[in-house]
Amino acid sequence: MYLPRLYVIDCRSLYLPPALIYKLYPTKTLLLPNTYLTTDISTMAMSQAAYKAEQAIGHDDNSLTAQDITHPSIAEGTGSKTETMKALAWMGKNKVEIVTVPKPLIVEPKDVILKITGSTVCGSDLHLLHGTVVELEKGDILGHEFCGIVDEVGPEVTKVKKGDRVVASFQIACGSCYYCKQKLSSQCEKTNSNTIENGMYGGRTAGMFGYSHFTGGFAGGQSEYTRVPFGDVNLLPLPDNVPDEQGLFLSDVLATSWHCVVDTGVKKGDVVAIWGAGPIGQMAAEFSLINGAKRVIMIDSNWRVDYVKDKYPHIDTIDFSKLAKGESVTSKLKEMCDNRGPDVSLECAAGEYAKGWAHYFEMMLGLETDTSELVNEMITSTRNFGSCGITGVYVGFTNHFNIGSLMERGIRLIGNGQAPVHKYWEALLSMIQEKKFDPLKMVSHRVRLEDLDKVYYKFEAKEDGMQKVFAETRFSAPACEGSPALTKF
Ligand SMILES: NC(=O)c1ccc[n+]([C@@H]2O[C@H](COP(=O)([O-])OP(=O)(O)OC[C@H]3O[C@@H](n4cnc5c(N)ncnc54)[C@H](O)[C@@H]3O)[C@@H](O)[C@H]2O)c1
Ligand SMILES: [Zn+2]
Ligand SMILES: [Zn+2]
Repeated sequence: MYLPRLYVIDCRSLYLPPALIYKLYPTKTLLLPNTYLTTDISTMAMSQAAYKAEQAIGHDDNSLTAQDITHPSIAEGTGSKTETMKALAWMGKNKVEIVTVPKPLIVEPKDVILKITGSTVCGSDLHLLHGTVVELEKGDILGHEFCGIVDEVGPEVTKVKKGDRVVASFQIACGSCYYCKQKLSSQCEKTNSNTIENGMYGGRTAGMFGYSHFTGGFAGGQSEYTRVPFGDVNLLPLPDNVPDEQGLFLSDVLATSWHCVVDTGVKKGDVVAIWGAGPIGQMAAEFSLINGAKRVIMIDSNWRVDYVKDKYPHIDTIDFSKLAKGESVTSKLKEMCDNRGPDVSLECAAGEYAKGWAHYFEMMLGLETDTSELVNEMITSTRNFGSCGITGVYVGFTNHFNIGSLMERGIRLIGNGQAPVHKYWEALLSMIQEKKFDPLKMVSHRVRLEDLDKVYYKFEAKEDGMQKVFAETRFSAPACEGSPALTKF
């Protein structure tokens, strides 16, 4: 049989009935006996194919807000007929572009239209860029971390008003469901009705800005304007003494790193090892110290370990690309920690980054969606009865998981989940005001929204010492004290 370009979808990991895909692409699909599906969807990447499947299955009816408004020209009444704006859009696997699209309109009575004054690129955006997180369509506007000025409010918005300077949470919460009442906003039950996510995970996350149709399908804030559903719930006013360059990071990074540390259970006197020296790992290091850790060891394989060490000279680092022959991260950590290992280990990297060829090929062939190497390394490194937390994104299923070490040595493995930003953002804002920490320590570059496509590729390649960017728009205030100077690309 001639199959010009083979494309493999692991139906088990997506829980997609092969028969359904066959119905969708009868001429391009070959069903194999082991439940894998091999198909030539030539131009259609996995990400888009999964969204087609979701459309064919249909959403659930739990959401209180409209789904799949991922850009303002997607449906009648969602975008202006007279005004346009610039935005960053996903245009296919490994491709993003700056596009000009209609300005978004109020669609529901609780909506706010925000004029964006600051956004950024996150390690999570790379999972969209790579197509690891599925269900994107060409033209979807990305960006889940943003702040701005309220431009318009719907008739049922009572707390925020036009002109307020605010930051948005990356998750869209309804404010009144079971989880929202406990401020566990990332797990809101009423803003995401994706059926595949529910089937695959046995429950859903909240809707998220700029994070694919898998999480509801909402346009993101890497743009000049964006629509914020449930504006009263998902926007936090920023006081005058907290500039955008600090307040922006309450959207995600600060709450996520804080949650990673406290949810995994870092206590006074603990030794904490952190995998991944990106922005999340960096802030997890700082927050571990604030929560009483006596020692922090940061693990990565590039200049980022030096970047973090430069900011916090008293932390220790392991660059695993420079380990001697026969040494591993686990053996090095044992050596550094009384031959037992750290008390707490934090995963701030992601499941898509394979270290060895075996997992690289297994992922490429659809035999697993995530590598278990890093989690296994955490488990074997951590002292008996210690704790491991996973904050880096894992999408589906993994092979060769070291369940024996986990069970026999009493390791507490915790999925930290998408972080519930609303639980922490007010306290973290107060800490910024009290100068207990400074988010600007992460910010290596100030860039323009117009250049964000180039920034994505540089951030992905870890070029130019890019740790975290602040992206300004034509509406931004002049740079605050301590902000890096503007870099144009
Ligand atoms: N749970 C949440 O709510 C939440 C929120 C935000 C971000 N995240 C996730 O947290 C992770 C980190 O975010 P970020 O913005 O810092 O990402 P990033 O991509 O900037 O940084 C990740 C770092 O991990 C390193 N890394 C890769 N493989 C490694 C390995 N085997 N051992 C040690 N280090 C390794 C990379 O070199 C990189 O420096 C991402 O997966 C992101 O999606 C989760
Ligand atoms: Zn993020
Ligand atoms: Zn809710």
